[in-house]
Amino acid sequence: MNDITFASMQNDLLLRTARGEKVERPPVWLMRQAGRILPEYHALREKVNGFKALVENAELVCEVTLQPVKALGVDAAILFSDILVIPEAMGLPYQMIESKGPWFEKTIDEKKDIDKLKIAEADDLQFVMEGVKLIKKELNNTIPLIGFAGAPWTIFAYMTEGKGSKTFSKARTFLYREPEAAHNLLNKITDSTINYLQGQIISGVDIIQLFDSWAGILSPQQYKEFSLPYIERICNAIPAVPKIVFPKGAYFALEDFAKINCDVIGLDWNMDILNSKKIIGAEKVLQGNLDPCLLFADVNRIKKETIKMLSDFGGKHIANLGHGVYPDTPLDGVRCFIDAIKGFNY
Ligand code: CP3
Repeated sequence: MNDITFASMQNDLLLRTARGEKVERPPVWLMRQAGRILPEYHALREKVNGFKALVENAELVCEVTLQPVKALGVDAAILFSDILVIPEAMGLPYQMIESKGPWFEKTIDEKKDIDKLKIAEADDLQFVMEGVKLIKKELNNTIPLIGFAGAPWTIFAYMTEGKGSKTFSKARTFLYREPEAAHNLLNKITDSTINYLQGQIISGVDIIQLFDSWAGILSPQQYKEFSLPYIERICNAIPAVPKIVFPKGAYFALEDFAKINCDVIGLDWNMDILNSKKIIGAEKVLQGNLDPCLLFADVNRIKKETIKMLSDFGGKHIANLGHGVYPDTPLDGVRCFIDAIKGFNY
């Protein structure tokens, strides 16, 4: 542990909430706050040669991470990076194709492809570790820094499919055809992710989030077999900081998440707040879950729906959207959402 961990933080609302303490109002941050909603991100992005040139440069990682903190006044910073740095560190490089998304030249098709992969170490991702140290220095104990990784199933989906997809049918077919090889790959991703997150924590992140963005495309049985146990293994291996898990679309697994060793469960906007609370119980903190499209509505509507959401959660809640903020969202809408939360009192 470094000294910073023990020094008191000016605004530690997110950490107190994640630990289950009673707080004065919910903390707020936005998934994908570091990125294309901000003109200053676009300006910096134009000056460098592609997305990866930003992600792989610690000074620029720090700069982009701090942009939404300065522009929006959120209660937490989230590390600017991508979940796909893990497959690359394991030996499967990706490209980020302009206006298309991620693309892997090689994909994982069979057992021998998995044997060739290494287990990533934190040292393989020095640009992230250096970035975290710079961010912590710049934040100077004002607000917490959220570290993150993709959940193993979501990383598996990109490594086998090779690109984004509506159905991820290649990834799902792999689970049926080669279940043993699938577990082998998921285990390698899990070991790499534990090393990576432990590195982020040693470098200074205060809390972590696991993004299981493609949780909702699995059947409940498949989710129990191919995703949940690996998330559980990561949570058990990371005792040092609070843990948020975001199983997008997996309303069928909320009961299981209530029992695992995480502190916060992220809900998407398809999940009913009151029902989810009933299923999960009072022990966990919840995060979410406004529809990102609401931020395109007029400010009165945004304010009204945000306050309704805060009242429905009614405490033990980290305010956020139900998924990442869309790149073309008007900043006035984003600010209205944040202000409504900051003006709320339990
Ligand atoms: O939340 C934040 O502000 C931190 C930064 C962050 C990025 N990606 C930056 C990014 C985080 C937490 C991620 C996570 C991520 N990356 C996820 C899980 C979250 C989710 O949205 O479900 C996933 C599935 C990825 C993979 C990925 N990265 C895709 C599919 C894409 C292309 C689609 C898109 O959004 O453009 C990316 C690119 C990406 N990651 C961008 C940013 C800012 C846009 C790149 C650009 O500048 O053109």
